[in-house]
Amino acid sequence: MATSGHRQLITVSDPAALATAAAERLLARIATNSGRVAICLTGGSSPKKLYQLLATEPWRSKIPWPRVHWFIGDERFVSPEDPLHNMAMAQRTFLDSCAPAANIHPIPTDSVNPDEAACRYERVLQSFYGADRFDPAESLFDIVLMGVGPDGHTASLFPFYPAIDETERWVVGVPEAHVEPFVPRVTLTLPALGSCREMLFEMAGTEKRAILTRLLDGENLPASQARAIGETIWLVDRAALPENFGGQ
Ligand code: 6PG
Repeated sequence: MATSGHRQLITVSDPAALATAAAERLLARIATNSGRVAICLTGGSSPKKLYQLLATEPWRSKIPWPRVHWFIGDERFVSPEDPLHNMAMAQRTFLDSCAPAANIHPIPTDSVNPDEAACRYERVLQSFYGADRFDPAESLFDIVLMGVGPDGHTASLFPFYPAIDETERWVVGVPEAHVEPFVPRVTLTLPALGSCREMLFEMAGTEKRAILTRLLDGENLPASQARAIGETIWLVDRAALPENFGGQ
């Protein structure tokens, strides 16, 4: 299920500018909420520069850490000691040195299987949200960060897998990945990811050009189906853009 918010493509010069632009958007989004803020992070390599920035000045001092909560949109079903673990990467890069431990909400990969981890995380999200059904007027997250894989997956929502069509569950187990790393996953579903004021995709480098070309051509892939109830932003650098791309 895709929600129908507005989608905008923003181009920047290179990966450094992309991380700065993402940090600015994140800070701007926090500034619009004077209460408890919920941010959903993503894994993969794309957000690392952003995470490094958030741990350094001037960004670090601008974040009201005690009232910001950090979640993750998908997780590889491995222990937090494994270098593949998404939230552990975010924790090492900035959360553990900046955020109160009680505000960090990892997917529990100590569960017996990905489905049980998904059920447990769904309860965490529902308790934080205060309901087990989404109210379109009330977003779960202030901002959701997203990446795009070579097959057009986002979070761990792979093309043609049943998880992409899920409309009831907030989090599901994915027994097999479609691309590397081939470990089971746990992923938020489109309705849960979409319950946000802003969904921010980061795509940088020539290795994203082929998939970005397919997405801009309108191919129906998980990354194009994922939409915020608020704004959906595709933040891309020049190297990721198709050759001769003229539009904005
Ligand atoms: C994961 C991710 C996944 C990722 C994309 C892009 O756990 O693998 O959350 O959806 O964001 O595959 O990955 P890169 O940023 O490494 O290109």
